[in-house]
Amino acid sequence: MIKMLVTGGAGFIGSNFVHLTLKEHPQYQITVLDALTYAGNIHNLDTIKDNITFVHGDITDAKLVDQLISQNDVIVHFAAESHNDNSLQNPWPFVNTNIIGTYNLIEASRKHNKRYHHISTDEVYGDLELEDPNKFTEQTPYNPSSPYSSTKAGSDMLVRAWVRSFGLQATISNCSNNYGPYQHIEKFIPRQITNILVDQKPKLYGSGQNVRDWIHVDDHNSAVHAILNKGVIGQTYMIGANGEQNNKQVLEYILKDMGKPTSWYEQVNDRPGHDLRYAINSSKLQKELSWQPKYTNFEQGLQNTIQWYKNNTQWWQPQKQQVEAKYKEQGQ
Ligand code: NAD
Ligand code: DAU
Repeated sequence: MIKMLVTGGAGFIGSNFVHLTLKEHPQYQITVLDALTYAGNIHNLDTIKDNITFVHGDITDAKLVDQLISQNDVIVHFAAESHNDNSLQNPWPFVNTNIIGTYNLIEASRKHNKRYHHISTDEVYGDLELEDPNKFTEQTPYNPSSPYSSTKAGSDMLVRAWVRSFGLQATISNCSNNYGPYQHIEKFIPRQITNILVDQKPKLYGSGQNVRDWIHVDDHNSAVHAILNKGVIGQTYMIGANGEQNNKQVLEYILKDMGKPTSWYEQVNDRPGHDLRYAINSSKLQKELSWQPKYTNFEQGLQNTIQWYKNNTQWWQPQKQQVEAKYKEQGQ
């Protein structure tokens, strides 16, 4: 058995990763380290709780991180403060978790000579013009816009430096926007689905022309496994599935699928510094590691996600009022 430490394994992508790993990669024995912030939910792991070890703790706790890393073989680091809008209101938790937390993980990984995989985002590259024929590649210069993306960029840079200066056995992946089950309802797609379910109009920032490159969370996580199996130490891999859609288009799909007129939404205050477009070129991952996305029909994936939120009202309902009250204060 290979002992794997998954940080942030009670969050959206991390919990989907743990489920997928147990199902498809039984050689791993998993320990989840998660602080259970507002974004983490222990119930995401309910059906598999007997097959993993769960540690309720914080990645900013250097002693705990050192101890857990000494006991594991592979570290997959998902834990982060992940929401741009929150980072504009209060950047400190982003600096603390995303930078200091990552520092603790890579220091312990180099001390104990462990394999480390760093989960990052396409937002570190800034944004593209709508008509730009180029997409982000592993060579695109870093140019982050928000407190969130700048702390992710900072953590990527720490990992790169630890590889070069200390020989850390690390890989990095930069993925585009994920969708699927267990995504917190502060995020665009689940916010709109749950708004419709509670009979509130969806909320679109600005004109909705901003483009995101959507990928199903299981495709992100299968790519992480491809990198763990075959990735070259020191390399960065872009993860994306050619899923570009503007926000208005995505909202129209949701409205149509949920039986509402496509004009049934409100335009609200735009996000300050709102990135215009993200687009990923994942040809390195596809050619060198033979990875392919499975969920290539976005509308179908979206329908399944809508169904998941319909079937799991008890999962999101307790948070809905509070999330919307916070957005209301921001005029969003
Ligand atoms: P999320 O906010 O849903 O989950 C984050 C998890 O980390 C939660 O379980 C939370 O409790 C935990 N956490 C936060 N601070 C912690 C701390 N100090 N110590 C221990 N645990 C802590 O986030 P997500 O959307 O699942 O994102 C996971 C990772 O993937 C992040 O690193 C994010 O930057 C990256 N990413 C996300 C997307 C996306 O579309 N959501 C795309 C690309 C990359
Ligand atoms: O690109 C990867 C990134 O994708 C990840 O690194 C982040 O962790 C993740 O949160 C996501 O960032 P975005 O800012 O793109 O995601 P969000 O769901 O917040 O917003 C998606 C788009 O929808 C964005 O253009 C803002 C817009 N939006 C968002 C909300 C919450 C709206 O129009 N209305 C909304 O209510």
